[in-house]
Amino acid sequence: MAKRRLFLGGLAAAAACGTSLWNRSHAQDINSMTKPIVRGRSVAATVHPLASLAAVSMFRQGGNAIDAAVAASLCLGVVDGHNSGIGGGCLILIRLADGSSYAIDGRETAPRLAHKNMYLRNGVGDVKLSQDGPLACGVPGQIAALKSAHSRFGKLPWQDLFEPAIRAAQDGVAMSSAVAASIKNEEQVLRGFPSSYAVLFKDSGDPYAAGDHWVQRDLAGTLENIATKGEGWFYEGEFADRCEEFIKERGGVLSAVDFRSYRAKDRPVLKSAYRGHQVLGFPTPSSGGLHILQMLQMLGRFEMKQVSESGRTAGFYHLLAEAMKLAFADRAFYLGDSDFVDVPSFLSSPEYTNELASKIDLSRSTRVPGHLSSQGKSLDDEKKHTTHLSTADDQGNWVALTATVNTSWGNKMVVPGTGVMLNNEMDDFSVSPGVPNAFGLIGSEANSVEPGKRPLSSMSPSIVLDSGGKPILACGAAGGPRIINATLQTIVRCIDYGMNIGDAIGESRIHHQWQPDTLFCEGSLGGPYQTQAINDDLISGLKSLGHNVKVSGPLAVAQGIQRVKDAKADDGGTLEAACDPRAGGRAAMLEN
Ligand code: GLY
Repeated sequence: MAKRRLFLGGLAAAAACGTSLWNRSHAQDINSMTKPIVRGRSVAATVHPLASLAAVSMFRQGGNAIDAAVAASLCLGVVDGHNSGIGGGCLILIRLADGSSYAIDGRETAPRLAHKNMYLRNGVGDVKLSQDGPLACGVPGQIAALKSAHSRFGKLPWQDLFEPAIRAAQDGVAMSSAVAASIKNEEQVLRGFPSSYAVLFKDSGDPYAAGDHWVQRDLAGTLENIATKGEGWFYEGEFADRCEEFIKERGGVLSAVDFRSYRAKDRPVLKSAYRGHQVLGFPTPSSGGLHILQMLQMLGRFEMKQVSESGRTAGFYHLLAEAMKLAFADRAFYLGDSDFVDVPSFLSSPEYTNELASKIDLSRSTRVPGHLSSQGKSLDDEKKHTTHLSTADDQGNWVALTATVNTSWGNKMVVPGTGVMLNNEMDDFSVSPGVPNAFGLIGSEANSVEPGKRPLSSMSPSIVLDSGGKPILACGAAGGPRIINATLQTIVRCIDYGMNIGDAIGESRIHHQWQPDTLFCEGSLGGPYQTQAINDDLISGLKSLGHNVKVSGPLAVAQGIQRVKDAKADDGGTLEAACDPRAGGRAAMLEN
């Protein structure tokens, strides 16, 4: 890259002295420039301070919320690569200052040689094949989606957006405890792939640990190539060819032809009304937008403050759980990529959601039979994956972006010489109808594997508008199916209970996904701003309403931005960006 701008603004002096990003005093600087919650005119919230600062450096250079989101997302792929990266995909929801909105689908697609029975062995679905190794990856969509967003709505040159990510990869960063823990969790499988071993393990043979200086030179080179030569280098050039060679050698089917035919797609933004607001959501292949719409329409039939004055009672969580079960029963049966299957339009109709709401009994838990007979399985608390970020600028542009390689480190295979870890998004298909996936979700034919099809996702980037059509909230989460329910709870807490985004995100959550018939409740998490744990009294209350309660660890990791009243701001509003205390993310803002 001919021109190298310093991206960290306030850290420019240190950077100019040649100090790399990983040293510990530098980490303190970075932490002091970011906080779990910030207020400003242009803001960003991500799970990693460097990604939030990358976003703010775009604002500082005159970029908008779209530039900021793209730069942050690229940076996350370097510093937080177990969750997302350019070997994976993303869904981007954008609300522009001119009032238009866009849902850009960068979801992976199944290779053209993929087929419905590819994970069956002796007639039985083998999820090991859809979760790890060469058959588990779809065509990555992240770069195509970022390019689609930037080429239409960004302001800065494409290559400038890569600067923070390239520098983080080239100079190295202090490995975060989350990344280090995810290597430990997947150590055995990662050790099986020499190209992944080379990136995630030290010369001593030990995995990199929290605080270690972690350099990814191959990934820096890949990013530099995409920055300077364009996305064609990735989809039609060297990267696609190398990926085909590597995957084919190991018995996979992903090919350069698959890369060449990949396109990010614009989807129609889902719009639903909720208590005088409009909620913008992402349609299929996301299941999240539709189910949040359904649940909000069900909840809209109830006076929330009458059900629960505080939003912290068994009655409150019970009502939410009943709506969750009804929505997730539909997910399992009806939903799939709408380019391949007819997702019934009645699912979002008020008549239908009223009918669902009429099944909710506030005095007891109701069994939801659903349309499939299989059982889901329990969720694995230890597996962390996916990432959500939000950005908004002082011009009125807002972005909610969720990205993933699916479960931690995707299919665990780095394409040699590129530093790119591939996704294992094929596991989000119904690997074999009725067989639960990594999230315990079961699916039907609608979500079965077909060439070119996109697997169903739970990613739920959402933006809420006030009665005047102005954005007041951008939110979303990470955590598989828990994303959908966490995003619902953020929206309900902000709208029904008037909470600030930081408080809403910090509150305890529940999760019910219909199957297994279990109500997961967060136990006491501690953390800097979690205000109320789901305590023993609440759990007894939920049990006495008939719920099969399981106390769990953290349920999802959310990031959000809210427009809040601020007497000092001339237009009566300023932006608050908040990160989830469950993951210790850091938000950043452009100083006025
Ligand atoms: N890979 C997780 C999801 O998209 O839901």
